[in-house]
Amino acid sequence: MQTSGINIPTKLPGIEQSIFSIMTALANKHNAINLAQGFPDFNCPPQLIELVTKYMKDGKNQYAPMPGHLPLKEKIAAKAEKLYGAKYNPDTEITITAGATQAIHLIISAIVKEKDEVIIFEPAYDSYIPAILLNRGAPKHFNLEPPNYAINWEQVKKMVTSKTRLIIINTPHNPSGSVFSEEDMVQLQKIIANRDIFVLSDEVYEHIIFDGIKHQSVCSYPELARKSFAVFSFGKTYHTTGWKMGYVLAPKLMTDELRKVFSYAMFSANTPMQWAYTEIMDDEQHYLDLSSFYQQKRDLFLDAIKGSKFKPIPCKGAYFQCLDYSEISKEGDRKLAERLTKEIGVASIPTSVFYHDKQDYKVLRFCFAKSPETLKAAGEKLCKI
Ligand SMILES: Cc1ncc(COP(=O)(O)O)c(C=O)c1O
Repeated sequence: MQTSGINIPTKLPGIEQSIFSIMTALANKHNAINLAQGFPDFNCPPQLIELVTKYMKDGKNQYAPMPGHLPLKEKIAAKAEKLYGAKYNPDTEITITAGATQAIHLIISAIVKEKDEVIIFEPAYDSYIPAILLNRGAPKHFNLEPPNYAINWEQVKKMVTSKTRLIIINTPHNPSGSVFSEEDMVQLQKIIANRDIFVLSDEVYEHIIFDGIKHQSVCSYPELARKSFAVFSFGKTYHTTGWKMGYVLAPKLMTDELRKVFSYAMFSANTPMQWAYTEIMDDEQHYLDLSSFYQQKRDLFLDAIKGSKFKPIPCKGAYFQCLDYSEISKEGDRKLAERLTKEIGVASIPTSVFYHDKQDYKVLRFCFAKSPETLKAAGEKLCKI
């Protein structure tokens, strides 16, 4: 289409096309194994497909209630109480959204005003900064370094000002695979105490945590929970990332604000999926077994790259294994990720893209939510470099 003479003032200067689309397109072009984008290459439980089909045939195809299907929210409330000892009112404190990404966008839109400061820990999932900028907030970046990506809370405390409105945390963490400890939660709680600071806790990998470590949810800490939006994703838990379904737990006062935005941005999430998830949530074993399911995949991938010169970064949760390649090459991580895709046939994500200033620690992120055959084949190729 002819668009010369049209001037569109971008609201997101400096924000590039998502690296996930770029690397996936490159992987497809070169027929490479795609360990770049974070999605499973295996199907969801067949029962879930049968349930969605059943509810579609039953006519559950019109708008769901704005905040979500109540029986689903009741199941979520019961789960949060059982796992995290937290009581959320299904009617007023739980909202079903179109994936965690939408939830994050809505929360930031509801809470962040012009010039409000938002503390984010980098490397960070790539949807946080654009949402902050669209709402004219000011991201305040806190740099975490490999191999442990540990947070120095004394330094975080020094970043807090009267303008700090929100702190975004993510545990288990994408891309690093690090997880919060109880001490991290206590330190966060101390920082927000007696201040008008809210927390957005991105817990989409709550059920993917390894070596017997316990997931630390804001929901388990009453003093944190009362000022937190906790964000979850059905996509991650049920291998249905393409359905874009998630939910938010937050006290009523905060949920009210979130829903003001949600009502006009979306109104309600997908109906037949909500009915299906309601039923499949009865099978607790599915999510309780998820950690061991993915731990086997992590270990298989680590085994497959054992003979290589890559140095694994400890992965305690989520489905990404970061590899330090400093013994292999001095190239920038983006360059190497592209070269590995084209020449070796394995696509990954350069972790510099998760830092606003593109810090390059010579680390690539590989998604291991893949079949054993895919992981073994990728390992063989990576051993060749
Ligand atoms: C840390 C993190 N948060 C949120 C999301 C988005 O979840 P959803 O697919 O439910 O939008 C992802 C997906 O990759 C993620 O890694």
